[in-house]
Amino acid sequence: MDKLKVGILISGRGSNMAALVEAAGDPAFPAEIRCVLSNRPDAKGLEFARERGIPAILVDHKAHATKAEFEAAVTEALLAHEVDFVCLAGFMRIVSPAFIERWHNRLINIHPSLLPSYKGLHTHERALADGVKLTGCTVHFVRAEMDVGPIVAQAAVPVISGDTPDSLAARLLTAEHRLYPLALRLIAEGKAKVNGETVDIAPDAVDETARFFSAR
Ligand code: GRF
Repeated sequence: MDKLKVGILISGRGSNMAALVEAAGDPAFPAEIRCVLSNRPDAKGLEFARERGIPAILVDHKAHATKAEFEAAVTEALLAHEVDFVCLAGFMRIVSPAFIERWHNRLINIHPSLLPSYKGLHTHERALADGVKLTGCTVHFVRAEMDVGPIVAQAAVPVISGDTPDSLAARLLTAEHRLYPLALRLIAEGKAKVNGETVDIAPDAVDETARFFSAR
């Protein structure tokens, strides 16, 4: 079966991108990473991609007069690398409805909360302030409204007394690095399919899409 051809958009550290690249290094993984694209020249993740021989592209948003021009350049670069599916991984630009429409049901994101709770920024600060005992991460298809869209998979991690936003983020990040490759694999295998505004999961994959990672 042909592999899904994936482009990853980043803005910084790129640890989720790295997790996807590592997963795709397995010949059995059903997706290949065609390129990594950053809107910031100083994104650490670009180096990581380059070192692994993956095309690492800079499309600097500051070099474009409008969002529409910037996004057209992003799409052009993705198409030049024959990308047919896009993963946002710490991409810190809000994508426009036109871009989302262009990549309709071929654009996913990872968000560090159990959506629909804690959309937006500062998720860990807000979860700690509320005293929740579980938080997590969500991989979802992107829709025009921020942090809304058909949910592919979620992982939960515990919140522990004494946690700081940093300690919670670190615990959660290890879950993100497991969840994002899993979600991409299920999509590429055709086991996670958008059906309206939710995602249907094949019966043999159900157990994988809801995960709990214990603290230790
Ligand atoms: C992650 O926490 C992700 O959930 C959020 O942004 C962060 C990106 O981290 N969307 P990295 O660049 O993948 O290390």
